[in-house]
Amino acid sequence: MNINKICCIGAGYVGGPTMAVIAQKCPHIKVTVVDVNQARIAAWNDKDLTKLPVYEPGLDKIVSEARNRNLFFSTEVEKAIDEAQMIFISVNTPTKTYGKGKGMAADLKYIELCARQIANVATSDKIVVEKSTLPVRTASAIKDILDNTGKGNIKFQILSNPEFLAEGTAVSDLINPDRVLIGGETTPEGQQAITALSEVYANWVPKERILTTNVWSSELSKLTANAFLAQRVSSINALSELCEKTGANVDEVAKAIGMDSRIGPKFLKSSVGFGGSCFQKDILNLVYIAKTYGLNEVANYWEQVIIMNDHQKRRFAHNIIKTLYNTVADKKIAFLGWAFKKDTNDTRESAAIYVADELLSEQSNIAVYDPKVVSQQMYSDLDYLNTRSSEDNRKGLTTYSNPYEACKDAHAIAILTEWDEFKTYDWQKIYDHMQKPAFVFDGRGLLDKNKLKEIGFVYYRIGEGE
Ligand SMILES: NC(=O)c1ccc[n+]([C@@H]2O[C@H](COP(=O)([O-])OP(=O)(O)OC[C@H]3O[C@@H](n4cnc5c(N)ncnc54)[C@H](O)[C@@H]3O)[C@@H](O)[C@H]2O)c1
Repeated sequence: MNINKICCIGAGYVGGPTMAVIAQKCPHIKVTVVDVNQARIAAWNDKDLTKLPVYEPGLDKIVSEARNRNLFFSTEVEKAIDEAQMIFISVNTPTKTYGKGKGMAADLKYIELCARQIANVATSDKIVVEKSTLPVRTASAIKDILDNTGKGNIKFQILSNPEFLAEGTAVSDLINPDRVLIGGETTPEGQQAITALSEVYANWVPKERILTTNVWSSELSKLTANAFLAQRVSSINALSELCEKTGANVDEVAKAIGMDSRIGPKFLKSSVGFGGSCFQKDILNLVYIAKTYGLNEVANYWEQVIIMNDHQKRRFAHNIIKTLYNTVADKKIAFLGWAFKKDTNDTRESAAIYVADELLSEQSNIAVYDPKVVSQQMYSDLDYLNTRSSEDNRKGLTTYSNPYEACKDAHAIAILTEWDEFKTYDWQKIYDHMQKPAFVFDGRGLLDKNKLKEIGFVYYRIGEGE
């Protein structure tokens, strides 16, 4: 089948950038991204490219090239579904906050809604592509809904095509992926659908990087990839605490083990912990699936990755409190960074939220500067935790659009995101306007320790022994 009309349901961090790149690389395909969130669609259509709802380096250029040529953002979900031959589902799949599997299983209500909507609207055969990260065997539920609620003689093929992009480098990851994974049925129709999707990617991805598998392997591979990545972070973070006690230095240990080609150097930087919308959610999901099958040892093994990550965030906050003479009440603590990593405006599960929560409970005044996160987002992140009233969150946390102002008169600075610009600041000037002794708690191992110590800062880096 020659695909020339694609629809994507969900204009978020995955749907938006992914479809923008498909449209840029395939000018012969009309790509329509739809969402029920009108404000989000309006922002994707904004002439001012700094207002795009997702910040990713290079994304503005791609959107401006393809938008209104063969890339469209719309709230007309049904029209786009009916027109398209291939429909990507890229809606959110958060952890359930209610009922069975609460706090663990993926909430599939948005996925099911999409499947029902596709079934109700479709008047021709469709290839439905799971782009969202889903529990293994979700494709069979989608197929059931499509086959049983559809108009009868319409045929649906379900493919799993998980997205491996990392926020902050989404554009380059999409343009130059390590691999594209496509899972489909082993029937001739399933294989045809796989071929149709492979041909879309083959417009820019070398054929040998397009991997095809059965549906279940593809679904499970995405959860597994995130679990392995998060596990490396938790592994090095577990060692960081031991380094502090023994006088070892976690950066030196990471370098020494990372040069072993069997281990490799990536994802070995000790930090205040991983965040983002995916790692925790996907591991919890894996744990839930394992428990469902009665595989308790498997479940416990992976759950430990989350337990370690929570411990690391709390430990970082407690270290600040302990170092500031066991009281942070009424002390100003400046946060540089709120996003869960650099080069994104995404704050979901960001370590900064949890560190702020701990410090606010000790009645400190938090002053935050982040180059891309708006203050409204910071407050809604805190409010979501429900630890205190939203009024108290606004009293306790102040946001700044100037980092020097955020740090002025502060007792301590905590680096929560590894934004490159923090390295370029005039740290002498920052020091001159702080309370003394002036502390820096570098939760990302970002700054030049020797330079800061020379200026006079007391510098704390996670995982550095005395
Ligand atoms: N963020 C990442 O880095 C990343 C990477 C790989 C995979 N994923 C997976 O991709 C999926 C999407 O993640 P995201 O970060 O883009 O989420 P997101 O919350 O940024 O975007 C999802 C969008 O879907 C829309 N939506 C929900 N239900 C809808 C419906 N019925 N009709 C139309 N629109 C609807 C929402 O309004 C929202 O704008 C998740 O399953 C996630 O696990 C995310």
